[in-house]
Amino acid sequence: MRSWIFILSPFLLLISQTTATKPTGTPHYREYFYIGGRYVQQPATPPNGPQQLLADGQIYVEHLTPAAGVTKLYPLLMIHGAGMTATNFLNTPDGRMGWADWFLGQGYEVYLVDQPSRGRSPWLQGVDGPQISVATEGVEAMFTATELHNLWPQASLHTQWPGRNGSVGDAIFDEFYASMVPLLSTNVESATKNQNALVSLVDKIGPVNLLTHSQSGLFGWSLADSRPHLIKSLVALEPGGPPFSGDALTPNSTSRLWGLTDIPLNYSPPLPDGSPEALNRDKIVVNDPKKDGYTCYAQSPPIRNLPNLSQVPILVVTSESSWHVISDGCIVRYLKEAGVKDVEYVKLQDAGFRGNGHMFFMEKNSIEIVEAVVGPWIERTQKHAHEAGSG
Ligand SMILES: *[C@@H]1O[C@H](CO)[C@@H](O)[C@H](O)[C@H]1NC(C)=O
Ligand SMILES: *[C@@H]1O[C@H](CO)[C@@H](O)[C@H](O)[C@H]1NC(C)=O
Ligand SMILES: *[C@@H]1O[C@H](CO)[C@@H](O)[C@H](O)[C@H]1NC(C)=O
Repeated sequence: MRSWIFILSPFLLLISQTTATKPTGTPHYREYFYIGGRYVQQPATPPNGPQQLLADGQIYVEHLTPAAGVTKLYPLLMIHGAGMTATNFLNTPDGRMGWADWFLGQGYEVYLVDQPSRGRSPWLQGVDGPQISVATEGVEAMFTATELHNLWPQASLHTQWPGRNGSVGDAIFDEFYASMVPLLSTNVESATKNQNALVSLVDKIGPVNLLTHSQSGLFGWSLADSRPHLIKSLVALEPGGPPFSGDALTPNSTSRLWGLTDIPLNYSPPLPDGSPEALNRDKIVVNDPKKDGYTCYAQSPPIRNLPNLSQVPILVVTSESSWHVISDGCIVRYLKEAGVKDVEYVKLQDAGFRGNGHMFFMEKNSIEIVEAVVGPWIERTQKHAHEAGSG
């Protein structure tokens, strides 16, 4: 036995070197299409006459179908966050299987999109608004190497980013950073263009399970609010927030005028003239400083409800060391106070996953997380939907 291993070991080495670079994932079919946008006329610029362009928010949609067959009732629509594209959910920067392939392996059809004006979704000079890029310093401090920058108390707990140090010069960081793209710089333009395109998408493809991350959390609330019957479940990974403030680290900044979003939501009773001014945001909730240490804005009575969003089962997932740990609880609280009863909040450390940061779906233990937390939750909501016969 010993000698066999000895003899075989050079071959094993060769095989393992080959498998390390072999594509990873689940066999599937792929098609793509574009949706959204409209034809717009551009003024003549002599010597050219007027020009017609398709613009204003069409998005690239990639539709993946497991080769082994679809076994799940509803597909999964995955929407990436700021500075990212659909590649977020394909293989990880260090070459492991991503969440899209994991869901394909479970028998889900998967839809991936590039947000409007980003990645394979065109940005047009003179039509779309200005763009910003996220610099390496911000990516290191907020996502990949929070433990070296310590901008918030829990940042030092981060251990799960793959590679040496989550910083420039490390091959895995460089690979990840190279995948990032510029994004529209204003929240309202991003929200409006995403809402238009995503509503068209679910109107075309029908009911879905929705998964959002970070910035796209905002777009998930809007989409579910306008098409509650088409969003069978909503997983919000560290959703953009917090309520009435765009930034947990500078909570006095004012944005998210509709509480959870930068564009209108359907409240009950309705907002007079649709104006968010009627939402009372004076109340401030101070959480336990040891746990959250953050001041939240909430609605003060009389609290308006979110009747459409209340029809959608929601899961919010937050990692142990991201800055979201200090404010995602405020979003969950806001939802519950607005009558959204079916909302579950998982802090990854309570589920046994220590040391994760904001990009946990691509960190070292990413597959364990989807296997233990996100996959089973979606599965449970599918069962309910099936039993309720709402096909
Ligand atoms: C991270 O690792 C790379 C590659 O070894 C190195 O060039 C870089 O200086 C390191 N950065 C930090 C902040 O440690
Ligand atoms: C934020 O607003 C609160 C309430 O108005 C105020 O007490 C606090 O000083 C402000 N914090 C900052 C950093 O401006
Ligand atoms: C969403 O809420 C508004 C206001 O309550 C209501 O008029 C509308 O019918 C709802 N839409 C759906 C699809 O449930």
